[in-house]
Amino acid sequence: MKQRKAGKAEQRVLKTLERVFSKAGRGSRSEARRWIGEGRVRVNGVTVRSPDHWIDLERDHITLDGKPVTAQRGVYVLLYKPKGYLTTYKDPEGRPTVFDLVQDAGGWLAPVGRLDLDTSGLLLLTNDTAFADHVTSPEHLVPKTYQVKTATLLSEEQLERLRGGVELHDGPTRPATVRRVRDSARHTVIEMVLTEGRNRQVRRMVEAAGSHVLKLVRTAIGPLGIGELGIGRWRHLTDEEIAALGGRRRTAATSNTSEGRPGAKSRSRACNKGRAWKS
Ligand code: URA
Repeated sequence: MKQRKAGKAEQRVLKTLERVFSKAGRGSRSEARRWIGEGRVRVNGVTVRSPDHWIDLERDHITLDGKPVTAQRGVYVLLYKPKGYLTTYKDPEGRPTVFDLVQDAGGWLAPVGRLDLDTSGLLLLTNDTAFADHVTSPEHLVPKTYQVKTATLLSEEQLERLRGGVELHDGPTRPATVRRVRDSARHTVIEMVLTEGRNRQVRRMVEAAGSHVLKLVRTAIGPLGIGELGIGRWRHLTDEEIAALGGRRRTAATSNTSEGRPGAKSRSRACNKGRAWKS
């Protein structure tokens, strides 16, 4: 939760204490709640045990185990997720997760959106929550491309339905770009490009069009394709790739969570929030 307090001459950005850690790229909100509950977190020298305590990012000094909580340099990872891996931190049933594949990527990371257990393809992970919000927000129209094998042959009429947007229980989908890649005797392979990322959206759209998905691969996020990336492997994004997705690499701070400088730009302003995707 974020609040703005408007003073006469300034607008102050307030965040809850538990959010400061993910904003700084230091850890998840549940890890932060644990650290706070254990009495390891101080605000301006005083131990605070409430995760909902309001923090002024420009002024308050936060420490964990006596060390300042500084914003970490942004880490941006592109993973080629195989089928059978969950996009979750821990699974109570002990199934493999995407975090098993990126252990050596450096520091705390959170997935940017999700891929289903049975979906393979590109998944971004980052410690930069503003960048993640930017890429997942439907407002910014970052296109995600999927290759879809359907359980039946699809007619031109069915492809038109998918293109026009279909009615789902959580509302109509946006128009999509849909291209027939090939037909076999019993199946069609299509490419779908979506600018929103609702839960199981491709699978639900194909069902609404009267078929179902046999195989689903996310082949691109914006301009980033699979390229030479092997399945189960990851690589860091370049600064140019981060910029092409509408972001900017976060630099490490030196003193506090607002990039180390009083009056520093907030992270959300480091992303081109108002910019719609342009290819
Ligand atoms: N749409 C889906 O149905 N599943 C995914 O994993 C991604 C997009």
